[in-house]
Amino acid sequence: MKSEHLEQARAEISARRNRAVTENDRKFEEINTLIPEIAEINKQLFQTSRNLMQIIRNGENTEERIEILKRQNQQAQIMVRKLLVANGYPENYLEIKYTCPKCNDTGYSGGTYCSCLITLTAKIAAAELNKNAQVNLCSFESFDLSYYAGHKTENGADCYKAMSIIFEFCKSYAENFSKESPSILMFGKTGLGKTHLSLSIASVVLKKGFSVLYDSVINFLRKIENEHFGRDTSGNDTLSLLLECDLLILDDLGTEFDTPFYQSMIYNIINTRINRCLPTIISTNMDWNGISNKYEERITSRIFATYINHQFIGYDVRILKAQQKNSQK
Ligand SMILES: Nc1ncnc2c1ncn2[C@@H]1O[C@H](COP(=O)(O)OP(=O)(O)OP(=O)(O)O)[C@@H](O)[C@H]1O
Ligand SMILES: [Mg+2]
Ligand SMILES: [Zn+2]
Repeated sequence: MKSEHLEQARAEISARRNRAVTENDRKFEEINTLIPEIAEINKQLFQTSRNLMQIIRNGENTEERIEILKRQNQQAQIMVRKLLVANGYPENYLEIKYTCPKCNDTGYSGGTYCSCLITLTAKIAAAELNKNAQVNLCSFESFDLSYYAGHKTENGADCYKAMSIIFEFCKSYAENFSKESPSILMFGKTGLGKTHLSLSIASVVLKKGFSVLYDSVINFLRKIENEHFGRDTSGNDTLSLLLECDLLILDDLGTEFDTPFYQSMIYNIINTRINRCLPTIISTNMDWNGISNKYEERITSRIFATYINHQFIGYDVRILKAQQKNSQK
């Protein structure tokens, strides 16, 4: 079990417990207002537990008196159940409903991990793999340089030559990856293979056993935002994962909304990873001007100063592939 997955599972189980307790409090309030007889009994039960503490403190006839209280308590519980049923509720309505009755959502039973914790940990690990499933679709092997052959940019640059250099760089980057590897900025127009090559790197680096996180900037920021503002109570901490993983791939920078929260998060992520000397790969459709116009200088100056830049050039491979398909029909 990966400790990070175990931690995520623990956080989720503890959130389940909190939800169960909160829901139970709500039910108590509901019943106390709707059925005054039960409210009265609950008050007495509360008094009983106080009396119990007094008895223990005094230490006189302790056993006998505790026995009496216990009996009173049991009778009160029976009364509550009867009243609940009489008012159309199930008799166990006020019992806390834990997701896992074996461990009451603590994650531990019989002095060891409860099966619910183990199952959830495995699920989280699988979900992470599934998210990276598209990593398997994009590989260096399926990257075809011939798509760039015969194209020149307006400035006369040879696309095949330029893309061959980028391809070789990415392959060697992946093969020699370490936590000290540099960060990369891939920029260029749509359909030129930025996502394809960054996923190819992810696939190789993952196989080497490094932790790699890949997603679009939009998806990452939405997750962080939901967790930050309490809309996601799963207990996940995406930001920490982004700040700590061995390789972070931020795809499609620039497609997110312009909000102060997003700007400060992007700055936080880029800056923290630079300070920790952890590599990041950013891909974007924007050119230098676009990046400079969209982001504050404190973000752009860090990217410009520390990232290795690769400009993707050529003719949209998506379109080329579609044309090939049509001509085969
Ligand atoms: N050189 C290539 N060889 C084979 N397939 C490629 C190549 N370049 C791109 N593709 C394929 O073309 C499609 C578009 O490529 P990709 O998504 O990597 O482009 P992108 O540069 O990330 O575009 P965008 O800026 O729109 O995100 C994908 O299905 C990808 O697998
Ligand atoms: Mg892309
Ligand atoms: Zn359990």
